[in-house]
Amino acid sequence: MKFYCTTGRGTECFLKKELKTKYDDVAVQETDGKVFFHGNVTGEDALQQLLSLKSAERIFVDILHVPVGQLDKRGLLTLLHTSVSDMKAWQEGLDTLEHLGLLKVSPVFGQNEGDSHSLDNECPPKKRKTGSHVSGASFRVSCKLSGKPRLKLDLKRTSSQMAVLISRLLGWRADPRNPQFEVNIHLNDSSLTVGMPLTEKPLSQRSYIKHCGLRTTVAWIMADLLAIEPEDRVLDPMCGAGTILIEAAVNWKCGTYLGIDKDMAQLCLTWENLQDTRIPVSIHLIQGDATRVPLPDGCVDKVVTDAPFGQNHLVDVSLDMFYKHVFSEVFRVLKPNGKFVLLTSRSLVNCVQSLCASAQNSHSYTSQIVQCTGPSEISTTRQEPKQEEIGCHVSRSMSHVYEVKGLIQDCDSNGGRHFILKNLFNVKLGDTEGTICVMEK
Ligand SMILES: C[S@@+](CC[C@H](N)C(=O)[O-])C[C@H]1O[C@@H](n2cnc3c(N)ncnc32)[C@H](O)[C@@H]1O
Repeated sequence: MKFYCTTGRGTECFLKKELKTKYDDVAVQETDGKVFFHGNVTGEDALQQLLSLKSAERIFVDILHVPVGQLDKRGLLTLLHTSVSDMKAWQEGLDTLEHLGLLKVSPVFGQNEGDSHSLDNECPPKKRKTGSHVSGASFRVSCKLSGKPRLKLDLKRTSSQMAVLISRLLGWRADPRNPQFEVNIHLNDSSLTVGMPLTEKPLSQRSYIKHCGLRTTVAWIMADLLAIEPEDRVLDPMCGAGTILIEAAVNWKCGTYLGIDKDMAQLCLTWENLQDTRIPVSIHLIQGDATRVPLPDGCVDKVVTDAPFGQNHLVDVSLDMFYKHVFSEVFRVLKPNGKFVLLTSRSLVNCVQSLCASAQNSHSYTSQIVQCTGPSEISTTRQEPKQEEIGCHVSRSMSHVYEVKGLIQDCDSNGGRHFILKNLFNVKLGDTEGTICVMEK
């Protein structure tokens, strides 16, 4: 059985690792933005296993995947027609879909009418007996041309030519508005890939995250890089809508999670996410400043954050100065050997590298905490948070938001120690490019 996943540029290696961890005997090949794998994906829960991949954007049955040389327009069209006409490739692909229980009899033939829209990762369609035909199924072609093929071929014309070809070949009916199946065709300078998605919605569109800040796949990768262990206390000091913490808490239930953000509107998004998610998770929230973290020294095991790049979320001082203060505070609150995973912009990597050699100066603090039962309702006044508060279990319905008034005193308490920069990973984030920095105290 052959599959491929699409994933953000730069994150292919993480998906490859995830696949290798999940499946002992699959062969994996990564290309730019896609990871191909084939092997024995069987068992009762084969489909659920595939749909539970966390670093993939979308997953497809690989119908065909052929190299593309230097071709002119005519050559590209010939390659498209010849490759897409390969009935053996279609038969193998459809067999895989059937094995996974995703081939459904067309409503045209009056069977399983209610199943026609169930290509959804949350409600996989019911299994059907092997051998049933799918003649007359409706489908849509999603065609993408990039690189030179984009300049040489007309996208609309190519899409409709491919739809006619597939319709004749499989006896399916093109229905762009209301299709049972989608056929994805991607032609670029190096390859032609034809696949059929296993789900209508991307895997990255999580059922448990309503307001998504950071891409969920990148959030999962950052949480994975933390290597969360049982009882670990994990802090995101600029948590925004809480995407990283929710992704971590859902997938690593053994940890305890704490989110800080200075902006109450952002904390409200996390709050709403926690109310909305169907998976109970344990996350505390504090309104506070990442440059004056209202926590005692050495009280967390791991810190993970997606710091402002200076584009959407502005900071009061220069970015260099802001990062210096944040690093200093993260260093202070982390336990010895604690891990710090940071997403920043490529242009700030030099700043991170220089801070790794100088995260020495720290603060001690006193602060007053006002505990709220919800984003707007303030109910209790407390003194400094005790370490136990970070560790105690709070279900999503009992999560707390705190307002913090801190008093910072400067001191140098770290004795010249500093972060060790372990790894840098460049990742594409839509139009921008970021770097994940993995550090250790
Ligand atoms: C890039 S966003 C984080 C997005 C988040 N990962 C998510 O998934 O929604 C950066 C966050 O840092 C917060 N922030 C900026 N300066 C801060 C500070 N001094 N202390 C705490 N949070 C801060 C912003 O309010 C914003 O929510």
